[in-house]
Amino acid sequence: LSRGAFPAGFTFGTAASAYQVEGMALQDGRGPSIWDAFVKIPGEIANNATADVSVDEYHRYKEDVDIMKKMNFDAYRFSISWSRIFPEGEGRVNWKGVAYYNRLINYMLLRGITPYANLYHYDLPEALEKKYNGLLSRRIVDAYANYAEFCFKTFGDRVKNWMTFNEPRVVAALGYDDGKFAPGRCTNCSAGNSATEPYIVAHNMILSHAAAVKRYRDKYQAKQKGRIGILLDFVWYEPLTDSKDDQDAAQRSRDFHLGWFLHPIIYGEYPKSMQEIVQARLPKFTEEEIKMVKGSIDYVGINQYTAYYMFDPHLPKQEKPTRYQSDWNAGFAFERNGVPIGPRAHSEWLYIVPWGMYKAVTYVKEHYGNPTVILSENGMDDPGNVTLRQGLHDTTRINYYRSYITELKKAIDDGATVIGYFAWSLLDNFEWKSGYTSRFGIVYVDYKNLRRYAKMSAYWFKQMLDRGKRN
Ligand code: GCO
Repeated sequence: LSRGAFPAGFTFGTAASAYQVEGMALQDGRGPSIWDAFVKIPGEIANNATADVSVDEYHRYKEDVDIMKKMNFDAYRFSISWSRIFPEGEGRVNWKGVAYYNRLINYMLLRGITPYANLYHYDLPEALEKKYNGLLSRRIVDAYANYAEFCFKTFGDRVKNWMTFNEPRVVAALGYDDGKFAPGRCTNCSAGNSATEPYIVAHNMILSHAAAVKRYRDKYQAKQKGRIGILLDFVWYEPLTDSKDDQDAAQRSRDFHLGWFLHPIIYGEYPKSMQEIVQARLPKFTEEEIKMVKGSIDYVGINQYTAYYMFDPHLPKQEKPTRYQSDWNAGFAFERNGVPIGPRAHSEWLYIVPWGMYKAVTYVKEHYGNPTVILSENGMDDPGNVTLRQGLHDTTRINYYRSYITELKKAIDDGATVIGYFAWSLLDNFEWKSGYTSRFGIVYVDYKNLRRYAKMSAYWFKQMLDRGKRN
């Protein structure tokens, strides 16, 4: 496997997000986001960790960009913290925050690392949550579009690759159904409430995405010559058996996971299965909104880590519960005939299933008209307590990357339009619920002094990307 095997111009990078790596969470004028509020609730995060400091990329960005360069990467997918730019979500600008992103972007360009800027990675300004329940309100659409436009205007002379939202499904499901992510709604709330909120929030994110894309296309794209898209997580759902029921359960899973967002964006409506099951609780797009939403991507980012077997749980209709997970109504299995689907990484959701990469990417090609795709996240974690010496010898991670990227290449050879690949992540960092008990980096971080040490997997990338390099 080498870079030379990929189409000309194919981009390799690493990905991260603002809250997970920046640190300086409440300094230099940044306002709090819903994650700053959430991590302070005792018991929500492993060891009650916060990302107040994390890996301090805010100060160490030069070192981090230098490591990317050293390992032969072409690009960095980072995110902009909305509340670092607008501490109250709207109105007053924090120019120190603007200056930080200017420093980061300019240094990337100086070193020949292409910026891929994502505008939203779970970190809604807390002020908007307090003011009108954030994403639950239609008012978010304008607030978000104004923030996005400010970024286009301010950074778009240099940033040519934009993404509006990262994993809106995770926001809707974990933030508003099981409450595991900020703003942690509905963990123990009444069923009536959680049965609607994920759908409302998803709808408002789709409209916010589309409104931002419209601003970009109307006012900036012709001049700045960039492209814009959205980042969607996609687990590959394989039917446990070839029974019709299990196949339907797997298809329903793809609809409730990827289709929820990609279907409106490509076809202008929610997947039929969702319309039938969720019925009146699923918001509707007006004619005018359909015009705005349909076709609102130049490319789509797919975050792909894992695969599960799905089966039909045969729940009697009258027992159909009310939560989103239950609307989806499919069982998860991690082995078939006693054979595990794959070894597990540290995170309990992460099974190593390289063939899922091929199937996921090929599914997007076949079901959504072969859109331009960026494989925008892929990676695996070790436990947080591995020592430096253990951490550096990450042969399992090397095998993970080699086998997944090989499957991705196969999908490309079979016709999928994929133009880039981003590993999650350059550094070990703050892993949401898991805090620092999970290490996804190809570079080890010693949290006592924040020193960075390249793992073997980083050198694997360095060599793989060096072979067949075009100058
Ligand atoms: C995302 C992901 C990342 C995670 C990564 C490993 O939203 O893109 O949640 O932020 O850190 O997927 O779990």
